[in-house]
Amino acid sequence: MAKSEMSQDILRVLLTEEQIHERVNVLGDELFERFHGKNPLFVGVLNGCFVFMSDLVRAAQIKSELEFIGVSSYKNATKSSGVVQITRDLQRDITNRDIIIVEDILDSGNTLYFLKNYLMTKGAASTTVVTLLDKPSRREKAIKADLFGFEVPDEFVVGYGLDYCQQYRNMPYIGVLKPEVYSK
Ligand code: IMP
Ligand code: MG
Repeated sequence: MAKSEMSQDILRVLLTEEQIHERVNVLGDELFERFHGKNPLFVGVLNGCFVFMSDLVRAAQIKSELEFIGVSSYKNATKSSGVVQITRDLQRDITNRDIIIVEDILDSGNTLYFLKNYLMTKGAASTTVVTLLDKPSRREKAIKADLFGFEVPDEFVVGYGLDYCQQYRNMPYIGVLKPEVYSK
């Protein structure tokens, strides 16, 4: 079968598999430098983190543990409301743990602003935010990633975990969606 079923909806490729792979390895090295010997707890933000996290933890090669948290932020058509709700909570005690939060993209900042505070109230010793993509032009909350893969322009991107209406997460690269896909 032709593998164009998803790529035909892509306007242009923003980041190739190779570019992502190379950058994730650099982020992994950086995490190793910062966290080896500290047994950190990676906390992935579902669902978007799943591809990035899988590559990142293997690139970092740190003795560590993995955990996931599910959140949803209520949005109207154009704007994040800023209200974030936990849809799947942590399954273990994080008291005194060094937490590495793994996100697909930092956009308005509402999700990570909420999560950082939430994890600190649960007793985390520290939180470090690692996001693959950063869209600083859309920030509403005063939050910065400690590590990010790529800064991206204000365009809606999909692939490598990122979705539009839950689709395209399984594309191996990151691309900009064709505008007509939104108006279907
Ligand atoms: P924030 O709370 O506005 O920072 O939103 C972060 C979440 O919005 C991410 O975890 C994504 O799920 C979603 N998001 C923001 N921008 C994009 C995009 O360009 N493509 C896909 N999802 C996005
Ligand atoms: Mg997400």
